[in-house]
Amino acid sequence: MAVAIARKYASEGYDIQLAARNISRLDSLCSDIRIRSNVSCTAHEFDALNFQSHSSFFAALPSIPEITICVFGYLGDNETAREQWSEAEKIIHTNYTGAVSALNAVSLVYAKQQHGTIVGISSVAGERGRQSNYLYGSAKAGFTAYLSGLRNRMFREKVHVLSVQPGFVYTRMTENLSLPPLLTAKPEDIANGIFKAVRSGTNVVYIKWFWRYIMLIIRNIPEFIFKKLKL
Ligand SMILES: NC(=O)c1ccc[n+]([C@@H]2O[C@H](COP(=O)([O-])OP(=O)(O)OC[C@H]3O[C@@H](n4cnc5c(N)ncnc54)[C@H](OP(=O)(O)O)[C@@H]3O)[C@@H](O)[C@H]2O)c1
Repeated sequence: MAVAIARKYASEGYDIQLAARNISRLDSLCSDIRIRSNVSCTAHEFDALNFQSHSSFFAALPSIPEITICVFGYLGDNETAREQWSEAEKIIHTNYTGAVSALNAVSLVYAKQQHGTIVGISSVAGERGRQSNYLYGSAKAGFTAYLSGLRNRMFREKVHVLSVQPGFVYTRMTENLSLPPLLTAKPEDIANGIFKAVRSGTNVVYIKWFWRYIMLIIRNIPEFIFKKLKL
């Protein structure tokens, strides 16, 4: 998803600063973006789990990005996470604690300069806990609530916060799952959806749009029925 988002913004003329754990893997992507879109592209080492580094990471970027998009995440394995705390901790810390730590650092800088856009990719999985992925889902639920509160707090600082709620998306995260084609988005759909939503100042975007209504139904299934479903 992150690659598609970077390519979309580059194609619209934005300079790109990529962040990842292993920056050597970003070299070819960066050169490709530079050549195709004639924009600058730099790669920066970033670990969502290295909370203490987040403020200095952001301060050390060549320039303060106009838009910060928090894409990282970790689905993990729910059954393993029930038995092994290290897996549960990785799911919680990557999807919630790491995202909160990183975006706290960004929001302080944006609040000071009184502008900026923060995009957080959460998930519809955070809207109701399901037996198949409730550890991931609960971390995303926390992240969704965090983004909502951050948007409320940043309004008076003139900072726009966009919450992205994807349903299923074909990416490395889901490559071993069999996903329903009609309900599943491509990374490019997410990139285009984010680009449009940032432009229009949208607060919460579902991609694809019908997930808003699917989740409305899922959230409203009475608990005494929901607990018997295999979801
Ligand atoms: N795919 C879906 O169906 C779906 C649906 C809803 C929401 N989402 C969310 O969409 C976002 C993008 O996921 P994706 O589908 O594109 O999955 P992906 O291909 O697995 O990408 C996840 C990225 O997160 C990075 N990451 C994981 N832990 C990190 C850490 N500690 N520090 C820095 N980077 C880290 C990974 O980096 P490495 O390359 O180093 O592993 C990877 O590039 C995630 O937040 C995910 O939860 C996905």
